[in-house]
Amino acid sequence: MWMQCFIVCFAISVRNLSTDQFALVQFKDRVSDPQNVLTNNWKASTSVCNWVGVSCGVIHERVVALNLTNMSLTGTIPPHLGNLSFLLSLDLSSNHLVKFHLPSSIFPL
Ligand SMILES: *[C@@H]1O[C@H](CO)[C@@H](O)[C@H](O)[C@H]1NC(C)=O
Ligand SMILES: *[C@@H]1O[C@H](CO)[C@@H](O)[C@H](O)[C@H]1NC(C)=O
Ligand SMILES: *[C@@H]1O[C@H](CO)[C@@H](O)[C@H](O)[C@H]1NC(C)=O
Repeated sequence: MWMQCFIVCFAISVRNLSTDQFALVQFKDRVSDPQNVLTNNWKASTSVCNWVGVSCGVIHERVVALNLTNMSLTGTIPPHLGNLSFLLSLDLSSNHLVKFHLPSSIFPL
């Protein structure tokens, strides 16, 4: 299945999914994750789409939803989440995150 997608999707989506991965890694590196949920699960060896809390679109392999509720995350939400250009749903509730850096142009919360 991965190989099929690799062949079909490579030209159109790998670069963009890499952008999503970069944004999520930047996010992970900038928040405190005392339960090590992200540290243990968000590994470069697995597809971003299989990371906990991450949902990808069916047609275009891009991150469309992020649900990281109740993971005891602390810190400031980094602007890099704004690079998730296909994001439709973001749920960071029940954490201790500060929304200061959330790009209001992309997330008019
Ligand atoms: C995120 O996950 C929690 C727990 O599984 C759930 O209660 C909540 O509705 C989800 N949020 C969204 C936006 O789907
Ligand atoms: C949040 O996580 C804790 C354990 O980490 C659990 O006891 C609690 O029920 C969870 N709350 C929600 C709303 O999921
Ligand atoms: C992601 O966003 C950050 C901060 O907004 C920016 O500095 C960076 O260049 C972006 N990276 C990519 C790969 O788009």
